[in-house]
Amino acid sequence: MALSESAHGMWSSRLMFILAAAGSAVGLGNIWRFPYVVGDNGGGAFVIVYLLCIFLVGIPIMSSEILLGRLGRQSPINTMKTVASSSGASPGWQIIGWMGAFVGFMILSFYAVIGGWIIAYVFKLGSGDFSGMDSGFSGSTFADFTGNVWSVVGWHSLFLIITIFITARGVSRGLETAVKYLMPALFVMLAVLVIYAATTSGHFVQGLSFMFSLDFESLSWNSVLLAMGQAFFTLSLGMGAIMAYGAYMPKDTSIIGTATTVALLDTTVALMSGLVIFPLVFANGLEISQGPGLMFVTLPVAFGQMAGGQLFGCVFFILVTVAAITSAISLVEPVVAWIVEKLKTTRVNSALILGGAAWLLGLGSAFSTNIWADVHIFAEMTYLDTMDYVSNNLLLPLGGILIAVFSGWVLDKKMRDSEMINDSAYYPVWQVLTRFVAPLAVFTVFILTFVTA
Ligand code: TRP
Repeated sequence: MALSESAHGMWSSRLMFILAAAGSAVGLGNIWRFPYVVGDNGGGAFVIVYLLCIFLVGIPIMSSEILLGRLGRQSPINTMKTVASSSGASPGWQIIGWMGAFVGFMILSFYAVIGGWIIAYVFKLGSGDFSGMDSGFSGSTFADFTGNVWSVVGWHSLFLIITIFITARGVSRGLETAVKYLMPALFVMLAVLVIYAATTSGHFVQGLSFMFSLDFESLSWNSVLLAMGQAFFTLSLGMGAIMAYGAYMPKDTSIIGTATTVALLDTTVALMSGLVIFPLVFANGLEISQGPGLMFVTLPVAFGQMAGGQLFGCVFFILVTVAAITSAISLVEPVVAWIVEKLKTTRVNSALILGGAAWLLGLGSAFSTNIWADVHIFAEMTYLDTMDYVSNNLLLPLGGILIAVFSGWVLDKKMRDSEMINDSAYYPVWQVLTRFVAPLAVFTVFILTFVTA
């Protein structure tokens, strides 16, 4: 039954799939979120748990998503429908696709807001506003900027317009063209910045040791849950983004090998971002556990103090913009493909409908730092914090359990074997991880987090 092509288009090679999937994976999660969550959770021990999650849970589930996508060759919602029915399983498994579409929306809604802040900061850094400034100035600049509802909504809108534009152009003319040029540019910029941080800050080793020093004392179950949520978020797992991209992947390529390559690229970028950010923070005696403001408050100060900081600061935020846009298009793709299939409409219409809806839902996050700053959804969390916490730490891992169980236990064995034909060496390892290790690990972390909370 497996089709050799998708109606939405195809990646022109394995390399293009890798660039697209790495484009999805590498994003705000690596550069903005990873360093501050590591900072908030004490460093090394958190990083180790995060790496374990990447290898034991992330790579197997990424392989599962690619496998299912390539079998179904449609949007995740319809892929799950087709694959479940040809396995003789309940149509209820379509929930993976529906939940994914919903979670993708939630993520996009706050992602585009933060993406907007990033674009704004390209101009702030580039104009030299931060030259020689201290963290008091930087903090109030950030507070003034995010406190102004018009500017936040304006930049948020621009971010979505770019995302929708690329998506509307289609898989090969839009997505593939974007990642083909942007991803190599991103790797070059990042390498330049690591060298810059290593040579100018004088605190490179301190940054390194912060990231790899083991202090398991300070690691709570909630930190473990955060490390796992971060692993899902950074690899774009649990909501069908990789499944959608897998639908456009050529047939004759290995799945596990490709997933491992993507995960290694993503992990390298996260660790390199830490190596850019932590040394700069230490060199300037700034606060490491700053939360979400780390990149916006501390980094500009660090750049403002350094030779060439105006240029490198601007380059840094361009890099983050690029990373964020190639990720945002993968949040949109599952639903755009589904609207095209369902309404038999064009990609352009579909992308516009979706962009409008995401913009509306995103207003809540845009308002979270100004007119709704005092609205707490639960505990101390604003709308933006809630969207982030619930999607990353609860819904993505939950989607991950379902994907692992479906592909490990429910999917027709013949279909699974035929897709994994180029993966003979690691196929048995994948089966053990997908059937037992990944679902049990996620489940255990859930239970322990809530029991010990
Ligand atoms: N992985 C991206 C990042 O690290 C975010 C992202 C893109 C994502 N697509 C996703 C997260 C799908 C979860 C699911 O920034």
